Amino acid sequence: MTKIPHKLYLTEDQMPQKWFNLRSVMKEQPDPMLHPGTLQPVTEADLAPIFCEELAKQELDCTHEYIDIPEPVLDIYKMYRPSPIIRAYDLEKALGTPAKIYYKYEGNNTSGSHKLNSAVPQAYYAKMQGLSGVTTETGAGQWGTALSVACAYFDLSCDVYMVKCSYEQKPFRKAMMNVFGANVTPSPSMLTEVGRKILAENPGTTGSLGCAISEAVEAAVTGGDKRYVLGSVLNQVLLHQSIIGLECKQAMEQLGEYPDIVVGCAGGGSNLGGLIAPFVADKIKGLKNPRIVAVEPASCPSLTRGKYAYDFCDTGKVTPLARMYTLGSGFIPAPNHAGGLRYHGMSPVLSKLYHDGYMEAVSYQQTQVFEAAVFFAKHETILPAPESSHAIKGAIDEALKCKETGEAKTILFGLTGTGYFDMTAYENYLSGKMTDYVPTDADLQKGFDSLPDIPQNKGI
Ligand SMILES: Cc1ncc(COP(=O)(O)O)c(C=O)c1O
Repeated sequence: MTKIPHKLYLTEDQMPQKWFNLRSVMKEQPDPMLHPGTLQPVTEADLAPIFCEELAKQELDCTHEYIDIPEPVLDIYKMYRPSPIIRAYDLEKALGTPAKIYYKYEGNNTSGSHKLNSAVPQAYYAKMQGLSGVTTETGAGQWGTALSVACAYFDLSCDVYMVKCSYEQKPFRKAMMNVFGANVTPSPSMLTEVGRKILAENPGTTGSLGCAISEAVEAAVTGGDKRYVLGSVLNQVLLHQSIIGLECKQAMEQLGEYPDIVVGCAGGGSNLGGLIAPFVADKIKGLKNPRIVAVEPASCPSLTRGKYAYDFCDTGKVTPLARMYTLGSGFIPAPNHAGGLRYHGMSPVLSKLYHDGYMEAVSYQQTQVFEAAVFFAKHETILPAPESSHAIKGAIDEALKCKETGEAKTILFGLTGTGYFDMTAYENYLSGKMTDYVPTDADLQKGFDSLPDIPQNKGI
């Protein structure tokens, strides 16, 4: 038997030419997004003032199984894709596990994460519509960076509202976005009405993705020929990220492998939704039965402790309502270092899969996650992002279970990005200053109290 190589890059020719729309094979669809005024399912026309036309179409498309990736998007993808799938031989050895561990590494581009996979098409569709620019939020700064890169390429303006605690923790993220021409504002800010309101109610707030989304949406709808783009949660973003899973499946086929367990970190759910898409499709069709494990921070436990309810996607309550696992749009998570996972809700597609039993979820405290990150860095030579390190921790724990049972399972996890801008966090961890925070039930109740009081939420 030939030895499996340390890494496999598909060739450019083998790169998928279409995104895969997981919704098209789901037995039951996620509940539709609702217009907050009428409580009726949103239409393309409802979404048109906020989103680009083509993206609004993709958002509502539950039928087309595959959607062509436009040629100009493929051309940019080819600058950094296909991304490698790597066999974690050294990690396996260090853990003493019989498990085979693979990871899909998405950090090999300037933005440092998988976020570019959706930033490129979103900027492309904005350009095709003749818009002058886009607005967005960013948590960790990875999405903002990715969008800045894509907007610079397509010559669009890019206004980024960055969660205040990340803005303060990572000043060089802002500088990097500035290099690509983006305007970066710490959120909540005094630039928008919703930001001023949030600050008036809670002057010391460190911000959240939910606040930043509210500001970016307001900036888009009041900003003339601009639209809002989002780096996660939405169906369209999971669609774009399906390139991760499609490449994985193809590469693993070449290696004669299929994962028994697929693990990914979950913030709003975009990398995980993309990574698992073709594997969940097999599971739904009864062809294979991989376990799918979502990993989230214990400080922001939307899947493991949230409610499956209709909620706003933002703190200022300006977005449509989505049915998802949520901590309530009023929940402001502790300033955990995995800024990209500090979101009160979860992708409606992933929420539905979790609700229907296709996916499991676990949560970890940040010191446990950083312990795994440092261990991984020493053995695999990559400095992981704190967000990605949740998946590392999840995969390590699964591999350790295999050590106990003696099973040689195949584990695949998503290594979504690099942690070069997270050195304050690493320093805090190494100097023993990092603390953990787990919200009490009473803390969570405050967030649940902010859930919309609508008939659809009765009995939740
Ligand atoms: C490196 C990295 N991984 C994961 C995430 C989580 O986002 P999502 O759940 O949309 O993949 C983020 C978000 O900012 C990120 O920057």
